[in-house]
Amino acid sequence: MTGLISLYDTQVADGTLSRDDAQEAVLPHFERIRAALAEPVKRGFFRKASPPPKGLYLWGGVGRGKSMLMDMFVDSLADIPARRVHFHAFMQEIHAGMHKARKDGVEDALAPVAASVIKSARVLAFDEMQITDITDAMIVGRLFDLLHEGGTVVVTTSNRHPDDLYKDGLNRQLFLPFIAHIKEQLEVWELISPTDYRQNRLEGAPVYFTPIGPEARASIRSVWNDLAGGTADPLILQVNGRAVELPAFRNGVARASFYDLCGRMLGPADYLAIAEEVKVLVLEDIPRLSRNNFNEAKRFVTLIDALYEGKVRLICSAAAEPEMLYVEGEGTFEFERTASRLREMQDQDWGQ
Ligand SMILES: Nc1ncnc2c1ncn2[C@@H]1O[C@H](COP(=O)(O)OP(=O)(O)OP(=O)(O)O)[C@@H](O)[C@H]1O
Ligand SMILES: [Mg+2]
Repeated sequence: MTGLISLYDTQVADGTLSRDDAQEAVLPHFERIRAALAEPVKRGFFRKASPPPKGLYLWGGVGRGKSMLMDMFVDSLADIPARRVHFHAFMQEIHAGMHKARKDGVEDALAPVAASVIKSARVLAFDEMQITDITDAMIVGRLFDLLHEGGTVVVTTSNRHPDDLYKDGLNRQLFLPFIAHIKEQLEVWELISPTDYRQNRLEGAPVYFTPIGPEARASIRSVWNDLAGGTADPLILQVNGRAVELPAFRNGVARASFYDLCGRMLGPADYLAIAEEVKVLVLEDIPRLSRNNFNEAKRFVTLIDALYEGKVRLICSAAAEPEMLYVEGEGTFEFERTASRLREMQDQDWGQ
């Protein structure tokens, strides 16, 4: 079994990572969990299984390496069963499981769902914990308790301190006991690195590729591999009861084609939800727009506005330079703003 500290050292030595004191300081905290789980489980005749070690709630600014460290931790677990999952994707799974349990007449619908999680994983690694509605808040609170009782350790990354979760949310007082539980069950640690590595990776690198062709495709693929750093999954966002799908998502980076996002009947709420969820969007194959694809053009304007407001980094391939994307048809005047934003968003300091 390779320990986390030596995994980190190897990646620093081969130049994959730059050494970072704040990141190194996190390693022993993950290592503590791995060591505790590696111990053989002591189960007496009359004794219950000993409680799991405290989990870890790793929080801090964007691009500091939280998800990267968590992935590395999961890799270091070797044969200890672990699951790494994006928080939203996991919650959707929980909702679906509860729905099914209810249909089967189970009164406490969360119990079987939690039991099956506990059976499959001793470590549950959540990426990007955030709570945006009270239903999730209430479910998560109880779920964490059940996982803890069942011996499954939770590790999670977040951009907020637990005290700031579901901040200003409706009926927040109902959520406060859960915050206390998080603090009891998980060690809260802030990763205070001065470096935003995501921004660093993008610095000086082109982010707008034109024209569309093999060269642009290859460049996009290489930026994506560099930023996402692993196998991506689709991310499905629930917006006003509808499902909005991003075909590939990992570590805050999403990849979609122009058609995926602007060729479908999506509207401002959908684009805002995407902008809220995603830190970098890789958008491929923006075509030349005209009268013939006016609706697509309109959606594209809305999408860019949402990304701009949300300070989402955009990396794209397009048939032409921003100013030449939409030169005839209704709304060309409005498109000037979009073109100007597309230019501004290429600036390496943009969004900081
Ligand atoms: N020490 C490092 N040296 C080089 N690259 C790094 C280092 N730490 C992280 N990175 C890279 O920086 C990018 C951002 O890291 P990561 O996704 O882990 O950040 P994060 O803290 O999870 O950010 P967010 O809060 O936005 O999710 C990734 O591509 C990651 O591989
Ligand atoms: Mg992250």
